[in-house]
Amino acid sequence: MKRIVILGSTGSIGINALKVVSRFPGRFQVVGLTACGNWELLASQVKAFQPKYAAIDQKFIPDLRSAVGKQKTKVLDAQQDLPFLASLAEVDIVILAVSGRIALEPFLSAAKAGKQIAPANKEALVIAGDMIMSAARWSGAKVIPVDSEQSAIFQCLQGQNKAELEKIYLTASGGALYNIPGSRFDALTVNDILKHPRWKMGKKITVDSATLMNKGFEVIEAQRLFSVEVKQIEVVVHPQAIIHSMVCFCDGSI
Ligand SMILES: NC(=O)c1ccc[n+]([C@@H]2O[C@H](COP(=O)([O-])OP(=O)(O)OC[C@H]3O[C@@H](n4cnc5c(N)ncnc54)[C@H](OP(=O)(O)O)[C@@H]3O)[C@@H](O)[C@H]2O)c1
Repeated sequence: MKRIVILGSTGSIGINALKVVSRFPGRFQVVGLTACGNWELLASQVKAFQPKYAAIDQKFIPDLRSAVGKQKTKVLDAQQDLPFLASLAEVDIVILAVSGRIALEPFLSAAKAGKQIAPANKEALVIAGDMIMSAARWSGAKVIPVDSEQSAIFQCLQGQNKAELEKIYLTASGGALYNIPGSRFDALTVNDILKHPRWKMGKKITVDSATLMNKGFEVIEAQRLFSVEVKQIEVVVHPQAIIHSMVCFCDGSI
């Protein structure tokens, strides 16, 4: 039985993580779930998974409390208590599915506490990846990336001699603006930008995909996660989005 906390359980990654939990009854115990403003969905997740803790933005704590009723779940403040949840002694795996910089403190806290950490969030690694990864090395925390490009690289490197790694390729689908000429940009609406041609994801990452900022983040994320030099990472535009990433070894095999 693995005991898990999902930070950002009401988002695209968080909801899918809970689907996996539901698919394997008896394999996971949910200790904590968190959201920012979506207290209605968090309340229904609390009823379904009965975690010991749930955290929500302070102004929605009364709503969440009354929605979960007699449930024994302790309600915490999502702006303050994520680091506490990420380092609980009774937790084995911390899934970082919050978007933006809010992931930084809980990531560091889980790394220092030696947890198994599954980060989908990339912003924390961009901001302070070196600090996080050195805390993880020091404590023995295991970082298993969930972001698809990094996850594929991580899997390709299992059992391989890292010294033989020559290059990492990250692919970019091109996002919502790939086929739209710049002359039309001024007429675009937010909804146009949020129509990703391949995936349904949270709003921030969808906008970052359209501007390619997301790929910039991923280059930094890969550099921090795998301790390679930036010049070893190349981005390839691949609108079919069949391959998320590749590794090339010194014998030329990819
Ligand atoms: N979606 C994907 O397929 C995908 C793929 C690769 C990487 N990622 C990365 O994974 C992370 C999550 O992405 P997502 O697409 O799942 O995002 P999302 O759908 O927007 O969900 C974000 C989650 O974080 C919570 N949250 C947002 N701001 C918060 C704050 N200030 N304090 C506490 N909680 C906060 C949200 O709560 P509410 O629901 O209450 O707002 C929600 O639970 C991002 O860093 C993204 O770059 C996502």
